[in-house]
Amino acid sequence: MAKRIFIIEYAKGSDKGFDGFRPDTKPILQAIEEASSYKTEIVFYKPNKKYELLDYLKENAHSVISRINPGNLKEVDEYFQFLKALSNYGVIVHTHPDVMINLDFKDILAKLKDTELGDKQTEFYHTYSEFVTKFPALLKEYGIRVLKTNYGSTGEGVYLVRLKEDGSIVSTEAVNNDKYYYENIQEFLTNFEKKFEEEGEYAAYFKGKVGFVNCRYLERISEGEIRVLLVNDKIISVVHKKPQDGEFSATLFSGAKYKYESPEAPKWKEVVALTTKGLKDLKPFLHGQNFPLLWTMDYILDYNEDKSDKYVLSEINCSCVGISTKLQYAQEVAKVFKKN
Ligand SMILES: Nc1ncnc2c1ncn2[C@@H]1O[C@H](COP(=O)(O)OP(=O)(O)O)[C@@H](O)[C@H]1O
Ligand SMILES: [Mg+2]
Repeated sequence: MAKRIFIIEYAKGSDKGFDGFRPDTKPILQAIEEASSYKTEIVFYKPNKKYELLDYLKENAHSVISRINPGNLKEVDEYFQFLKALSNYGVIVHTHPDVMINLDFKDILAKLKDTELGDKQTEFYHTYSEFVTKFPALLKEYGIRVLKTNYGSTGEGVYLVRLKEDGSIVSTEAVNNDKYYYENIQEFLTNFEKKFEEEGEYAAYFKGKVGFVNCRYLERISEGEIRVLLVNDKIISVVHKKPQDGEFSATLFSGAKYKYESPEAPKWKEVVALTTKGLKDLKPFLHGQNFPLLWTMDYILDYNEDKSDKYVLSEINCSCVGISTKLQYAQEVAKVFKKN
């Protein structure tokens, strides 16, 4: 039988339709069948059956599209090694795990800090001791900082930390805008220690990845986040995500509103140009692989010295960007599989 295009799903997670698949899985595969001569298939990754699945995919897959939110998987490192094994065998893997590990994790913000995409005052702390040594000085200087766990999503592990005049601290978690209060910096730091998980002994991919990124607080988050949606290196949409009035989180679950617009719209000219130009700064992190299949670059607005708008990259998502509410983008994804 001719080699096919596969989507790999995972049974657990809140991102499923009533039939147990992600709602965008079948539309993406259908679009691929229409645009190419490939047949398609869906498989589920089960950690205890990974070797069987590996053999099956080696034999039958031309390409695989991973549609698993790493947050739903306990053994992400193992899963990335599984994808790598497929790639080494010659199966095309969307998105290659080397690319996911580099772009999807928030430490990319520290790596890009001196590029036009980034912000100079971004730091990554791999250990609690680095955090304790460096974080208090920046918090004192700015009074407010954002801490992001290196591999979180949907606002989990993203904290807005505010130092009040009386020396007490309020920390707001973006996932639901929950607030935590501490009498002083010491109490806050002590409490934060447990958030630095231990590094897995057998980690191949996750070595050096545990930790937090410390970012400048961008107050124009009140105007929302600007999400540039891409298929490989092509920008297909700009999404304006606006938080609830007076709140900090622009995640969908916290009540933010999403508005999809054309990248041709004049008001998005700057962010589209910045993104296009910024792709060259991301290239070194692809390790020779392609840009992700379906991915986003999220920005928050700031001001340049002359008061004009400046876009600051606030995260990249490339492991499993959903298009369930915009299924027409499945056609853009399908074009990647078109045979010349
Ligand atoms: N530098 C920042 N300044 C202000 N708000 C921020 C900043 N970074 C993130 N946020 C807020 O926190 C939310 C979650 O952060 P984000 O980096 O998007 O992580 P994720 O979506 O992976 O959890 C964002 O949607 C935004 O509302
Ligand atoms: Mg986000």
